Amino acid sequence: MLTIRPHQADRLLKATGKLIGKTPLFLIRHAFNKANVRIYAKLEWLQLGSSVKARPAFHMISQAVASGELTSYRHILDATSGNTGIAYAAIGARLGIPVTIFMSETASKERSTILKALQTNIIYTSAPTTGDEAQQMALSLFKKQPNRYFHINQYGNENNWKAHYQTTAQEIYRQTRGRVTHFVAGLGTTGTLVGTGRRLQELNPAIRLIALQPDVSTHLLEGWKHLGSSTAPAIYDASLAHQTLAVSTEEAYEWIKRVAVKEGLLLSPSSAAALAGAVQVAEQIDEGIIVTVFADSADKYGEVINSLF
Ligand SMILES: Cc1ncc(COP(=O)(O)O)c(C=O)c1O
Repeated sequence: MLTIRPHQADRLLKATGKLIGKTPLFLIRHAFNKANVRIYAKLEWLQLGSSVKARPAFHMISQAVASGELTSYRHILDATSGNTGIAYAAIGARLGIPVTIFMSETASKERSTILKALQTNIIYTSAPTTGDEAQQMALSLFKKQPNRYFHINQYGNENNWKAHYQTTAQEIYRQTRGRVTHFVAGLGTTGTLVGTGRRLQELNPAIRLIALQPDVSTHLLEGWKHLGSSTAPAIYDASLAHQTLAVSTEEAYEWIKRVAVKEGLLLSPSSAAALAGAVQVAEQIDEGIIVTVFADSADKYGEVINSLF
């Protein structure tokens, strides 16, 4: 493990930043078609750590390193459904900062494999544990050993949504040449919707924001939160979205199959659910440019993919 020194931090952060964001905007051409309506998706697996979480993880870590709170002598500590943990671990490896996460034992096998390879300390929470409890467990470990851990707290860290405010929104606006009319995103920590939504609204107040959540608390859309049965993250701004829609796991699975065949992309359940939500929006309107976010690909969901094909 390297030890990061202040004069190296800037250089390492700059080099790492080159691997974050700047993802392509993909036009759904064949899986969905409606005259005068287009659906685009940001392919967020095409960056370090292979998910949308590279953006907030990098911004939260770089701000904490810059403020001097985070050094190689403290572990990045958080509760995560997996993707943020992988992003912390990939960035942490480059900076010489260790990572400890609380993650549900029901998270996919591939997540554990990747996290272990990246030298993450994983503390598994038992199956009935909700995300809320995992967050409490991370907080109480931090309180016991505040010098050993830096509790980065993606659910309450303002730099989570600010990452999307500064990068995702700008990219979408530029890539659509300012023509985006609707932004649709699933809710996990809510950073994607809050940060991207806030900036897009500033760029054009006519842009409509649509939040998506699973239809039931027992859903299998890894990374999404059913807000009705869990505490809303501290960074969530419930007044932001113009509309909230529900998506079922079954609907998402149907879109995984359709997009694989028609577009040649293998989507994760939450990416397919984002598309299902975007299609619900498309069905409500006569014209528009809808943009959503494909948080990750099917790479970490072997069991789901095997069961579908
Ligand atoms: C696979 C996946 N999709 C969607 C999300 C939701 O994104 P956000 O946390 O920005 O709301 C997450 C977050 O953990 C995720 O891991």
